[in-house]
Amino acid sequence: MALPFLFHVLGLLSFSLLAPLLFSSPISPSRSSVLQPGSFLSVENQDDFLISPNGIFTAGFYKVGENAYCFSIWYTKPLSDGSYTAVWMANRDVPVNGKRSKLSLLKTGNLMLTDADQPLPVWTAGIIDSSKSAQLMLNNTGNLFLQNQDNETIWQSFDSPTDTLLPLQPFTKDTTLVSSRSSTSFSQGFYKLFFDNDNVLRLVYNGPKIAGTYWPDPQQTAWVSGRSTWAPRRTAVLDSSGHFVSSDSLFFNTSDAEDVLVRRLTMDVDGNLRAYSLDEIKGVWKVTWQAISDTCQVQGICGENSTCSISPTHGRKCSCLPNHQMINQTDWSYGCAPVFNTTLCGNDEDNYVAFPNYDFYGYDARFVPNTTLDQCKKVCASICNCKGFLFNFDIQGFYSCYAKFKLINGFGTVRNGTMYLKVPKSISLQTNNNMAVQEFSLTCSEKSTIKLDRAYVKNPKNESLKFMKLFTYIFGALEIVCIICFFYKTRNPLKTRRQGYLQTVQGFQRFSYAELKKASDNFSKELGRGGGGIVYKGILPDNRVAAIKVLKEFDNNQGEAELLAEISTLGRINHMNLIDIWGYCVERKHRMLVYEYMENGSLAQNLQTNKLDWAKRFDIAVGTAKGLAYLHEECLEWVLHCDVKPHNILLDSNFSPKVADFGLSKLLDRDVTHKEFTKARGTRGYMAPEWLFLNQPITSKVDVYSYGVVMLEMITGKIRADDQNLGSKGRLDSWVAEKMIAADGKNGWIRDVVDSTVQGKYDTSKMEVVIKLALRCLEEDKDARPTMRQVVDMLLRT
Ligand SMILES: *[C@@H]1O[C@H](CO)[C@@H](O)[C@H](O)[C@H]1NC(C)=O
Ligand SMILES: *[C@@H]1O[C@H](CO)[C@@H](O)[C@H](O)[C@H]1NC(C)=O
Ligand SMILES: *[C@@H]1O[C@H](CO)[C@@H](O)[C@H](O)[C@H]1NC(C)=O
Ligand SMILES: *[C@@H]1O[C@H](CO)[C@@H](O)[C@H](O)[C@H]1NC(C)=O
Ligand SMILES: *[C@@H]1O[C@H](CO)[C@@H](O)[C@H](O)[C@H]1NC(C)=O
Ligand SMILES: *[C@@H]1O[C@H](CO)[C@@H](O)[C@H](O)[C@H]1NC(C)=O
Repeated sequence: MALPFLFHVLGLLSFSLLAPLLFSSPISPSRSSVLQPGSFLSVENQDDFLISPNGIFTAGFYKVGENAYCFSIWYTKPLSDGSYTAVWMANRDVPVNGKRSKLSLLKTGNLMLTDADQPLPVWTAGIIDSSKSAQLMLNNTGNLFLQNQDNETIWQSFDSPTDTLLPLQPFTKDTTLVSSRSSTSFSQGFYKLFFDNDNVLRLVYNGPKIAGTYWPDPQQTAWVSGRSTWAPRRTAVLDSSGHFVSSDSLFFNTSDAEDVLVRRLTMDVDGNLRAYSLDEIKGVWKVTWQAISDTCQVQGICGENSTCSISPTHGRKCSCLPNHQMINQTDWSYGCAPVFNTTLCGNDEDNYVAFPNYDFYGYDARFVPNTTLDQCKKVCASICNCKGFLFNFDIQGFYSCYAKFKLINGFGTVRNGTMYLKVPKSISLQTNNNMAVQEFSLTCSEKSTIKLDRAYVKNPKNESLKFMKLFTYIFGALEIVCIICFFYKTRNPLKTRRQGYLQTVQGFQRFSYAELKKASDNFSKELGRGGGGIVYKGILPDNRVAAIKVLKEFDNNQGEAELLAEISTLGRINHMNLIDIWGYCVERKHRMLVYEYMENGSLAQNLQTNKLDWAKRFDIAVGTAKGLAYLHEECLEWVLHCDVKPHNILLDSNFSPKVADFGLSKLLDRDVTHKEFTKARGTRGYMAPEWLFLNQPITSKVDVYSYGVVMLEMITGKIRADDQNLGSKGRLDSWVAEKMIAADGKNGWIRDVVDSTVQGKYDTSKMEVVIKLALRCLEEDKDARPTMRQVVDMLLRT
């Protein structure tokens, strides 16, 4: 009685398992790295993909929208937010339907991507293999290639990159990287990396209305930018250790060079070229190099008749010129249109509105050196399509006039020029303060997908077969569900699941108090205190050495969710010069953060030893500035550090700096005025003067000030907090400034000022530049201080 029943179950089981094989079309390989001639990969079969032998790369159908797919290569492992990073696409501009599309390897050797019921292929590799035996393979390097009988590569994806260059993938005269259109659309955008006709690697913006190269700096010759135009061959390559070598003499090492990591070089949506490495533990990409540090230099970001500025509260911001209106509310690259009639030809009656410290780069109708403002106005009035002019004090020591026929690439600048806009006299002028007619902040991390209108047309054939198929599928599925339920019930996954969920959502790990107590050997090895808590050394269960910060005075009411919300922002901040946060602990009253451990302690501990020569100190100054500039940068929540001091600048085994303790100072809300902030933060000796005045806003310039103090301390070896013995005003900066003024142009003063332990081992003229830069950071007037970004640029230029 029982036996026949059992047979029945077994029979049904085997039938339902076999059914897919019987009814679906032949040879559909799964999870292999080779596709044989005559077979195909189907969009509908989840298992239809090629995987590289080392498992890192996968090639298959990648979802780019609702029911829209591109045949792509991506990293097999998802990031902590669950997304997959695509590195190549065959059909980025023409996604195919999520039903009945397939990639076939024909017997003739050609590779063909077909869309649902459309007769013509969407994409082909354009290959004919006479041997009729070419196989499609995915290499460990992420290269998808067709190999014929004689082991020759007859086609490879490395020859047609999309927006990403992988390690060891040659970049040549025949290849380009083209950015995606937006963070939600993978189709071709407007930014391009390519070898120009003069053999120089350049970035170009090729928008719907304007175009132009913007890297290397187009205002300088390639030679001045350190490029060579004499290369016999145009080729460039990034290796897996982070070294980039190009035939035009562009060499760079990523910030984490030497380690062999999963890396990529990507032409990003925002027009910047960036190198990334994968942080395997946190599942995030880290920026380890970027072509452009001042993001307003990227062309096309803000379109015609608008200006770009980096503001402390909004990051990068575009604004329309006065009396202009934004053309497309969702896209600044369309620019702004004037709301007045532009019949401005030969009209001496025109008005000119001045914008000090603004420049519009390029598009000069006429250039008149050594001239006066009145003459310049006459020049512009005489040119029919002159939209305005830049009146600039040039380095030759006189004023020059640059009349513009288009107002593009407007940006705030440190140069002492003034932009004058031509407007008809009839227009009532708005003042400079009203310059921004419309504001708009770019959305940077949207992860939603586009909806693509590609309805699947139902095919009425084979209804009966379909019914049978359905029937067996349902039975099979039911049985499998039961089996899974059984296994599932025997385990107790609830607890681990919850933790795992938090971990993947936030990108870092949750520790229990007991774990951290054990790791830190009962909180015995103290590393330092301050900044809201005591830091202990610890060794995590996975043997990583960590710094564990026990937060004191944390509001007892603050639950895990709030703490998580606050630190999740920190989890998104990844920069080589900012300390990494690995995890946290919330348990009863305990609140702890787990950071990476830095071998060589803080700058404060090393400053008055003789371990730091000038080269190291300079590198620390540059690294710290880069870290702070990144904090102040767009696309992250705006983060002020507010407690920059040598104790918070930590040094790794190579004495490379990482800024610690940022973000705890309550992340600034974008639109909040920062008054409530004024109480707690800062350390005497490093605080900017505006902290003392309640009515002064707190901006990123407070960090610039503190950074200036740190720089002077590194130069002089003296600590500002105990600088009573430094002369009349008792302040380090006044002491240095007095020495400089007293010397009256003679060089001896630098020797007096610089720390005796670095004596002699530096270039005096460069040192002078660095000291003057430090003093500029210490200006009483916050607007006179440079931004952190400008500090980085100026340091790198010395
Ligand atoms: C595949 O990768 C190996 C090294 O991983 C490389 O030597 C070989 O040339 C690659 N083949 C192709 C066709 O890219
Ligand atoms: C990059 O690193 C290599 C070796 O590690 C070194 O020889 C080279 O000079 C470095 N290049 C730059 C631009 O720093
Ligand atoms: C505005 O820009 C968006 C995104 O680029 C585009 O889809 C839309 O068509 C544009 N609208 C107009 C009116 O040009
Ligand atoms: C920018 O302003 C000028 C007039 O000043 C106008 O001719 C031009 O069309 C504007 N650009 C756009 C994109 O509307
Ligand atoms: C600029 O113009 C003034 C007056 O025309 C002249 O005296 C001066 O030499 C000029 N300067 C230079 C550098 O050409
Ligand atoms: C800095 O770190 C390296 C590597 O851990 C170590 O050998 C060296 O002794 C450290 N220096 C100091 C001053 O701690």
